Amino acid sequence: MSSFRWIFMALLLFSTLLSACSPQEPMSETPRLEHSVTAFFEELDAENMFTSIEELTKEPRLTGTESEKQAASFLADQLESYGYTVNVQSFEFEKYRAPTSLRLMVDGFNGTLSPAAFQFSVSGQVTGEIVEAGFGLESDYNDIDVAGKIAIVAAERTSFHELVRNAGHAGAAAIIIYFPKGYPINRWSLGKHDNAFIPALALSYNEGRAVLDHMKTDVPIKGTVTIEGSRIDKAESQNLIALKQPDFKTAKSKEIITIGAHYDSVQQAPGASDNASGTAVVLELARALRDVPTHKEIRFLFFGAEEVGLLGSEYYVSTLSKKDSKHSVAMFNLDMVGSSDAGKLAIQTVDGTANTVTKAASKAYEELHGHSVSIDTGARSDHTPFQKAGIDAALFIYYPLEEWYHSPDDTIDKISKEKLLNVAKIVGKSALELTASHNTDY
Ligand code: BES
Ligand code: ZN
Repeated sequence: MSSFRWIFMALLLFSTLLSACSPQEPMSETPRLEHSVTAFFEELDAENMFTSIEELTKEPRLTGTESEKQAASFLADQLESYGYTVNVQSFEFEKYRAPTSLRLMVDGFNGTLSPAAFQFSVSGQVTGEIVEAGFGLESDYNDIDVAGKIAIVAAERTSFHELVRNAGHAGAAAIIIYFPKGYPINRWSLGKHDNAFIPALALSYNEGRAVLDHMKTDVPIKGTVTIEGSRIDKAESQNLIALKQPDFKTAKSKEIITIGAHYDSVQQAPGASDNASGTAVVLELARALRDVPTHKEIRFLFFGAEEVGLLGSEYYVSTLSKKDSKHSVAMFNLDMVGSSDAGKLAIQTVDGTANTVTKAASKAYEELHGHSVSIDTGARSDHTPFQKAGIDAALFIYYPLEEWYHSPDDTIDKISKEKLLNVAKIVGKSALELTASHNTDY
């Protein structure tokens, strides 16, 4: 061997030794991250998600019932089989029982009236003058007297919860809320029980306008609102928590990336889209990310009692220590992420503005699809309590919704494996990018 060759070999050996002894960090993040994302994509399996949905939709997972508990135990078993320790976080809540009967009678009115109750409508029988109160805003009550009477308002400008509270505050004894043209009236909620509620009924636009027309006389028109059998019982639900600890210690490894979905459903709905889909995706993310090395904690959450007022996520957030809350830098919420007949993937934040989650997800989306994803406003799911607690959060949902939302037709035959896989890739890739990031400002 020539002396030139000896020198070259020595130099190569020296440089190899040097790099082996030097601290790990400089070996650039990007190739390591790309490698992790590729390994994660390869691990993802749409069949797994579909099988989980099959299991979860055998019967409705009504909040606070045995079937919700059974779904929780299926999820816990799956997570344990992937090697996670599962923390079951149980909580009590006030469960609403729907009315057994409701009636609306309007003196002298001959047409049909088919009112509906809201979830959380309280029982009661009220007879009194019916008074029009515009859009039911606080200011609508300034110049009218509704004390002890029945207010009738248009549902357009504020939440049902607010409408009922405003009427109660103004002294009304009951409220009739009529809907905009064409809106179904029988699947709505007041959000959660409130001691300030008065009996509340929903009416269709046509029936509401017919009652108002009937009231166009000089004499006050009286009516009777009757709601019977609704009541509040104590019930129990549970969240599941599974942690993937960081594999590397860095200055940022105390940070927590949260990925969650609610697994309860409404009455009579198998809830394939809402939300066995999100549940199955989070479960598959927990499995596929299990062995991918990460720099931060990834916390997988499964919420109970979402459908009765975001109770599981509210409870979880209320139990977070100050430290964990401060370290929770991003919350990905998956709700309704598999319906064949829903629209495109959308990301919703509580105020419609971008945050850590939407920025990471927009980047991942563009890299995968070559165009941007829409960021909209929406607070109707479990990301909301997180955002309210100051944790950047966003909802992933295919939007506009499918027609059979909250109905018995929300079944597995309408689930798209492609859609499940798409959202799994985007959320998983975003989470991996966030766990690799060493910046505070993402
Ligand atoms: N999956 C829906 C949430 C949803 C619906 C998000 C439409 C975006 C658009 C969720 O399970 C649900 O039905 N939420 C309730 C929330 C309420 C009980 C606080 C709702 O929107 O009525
Ligand atoms: Zn849902």
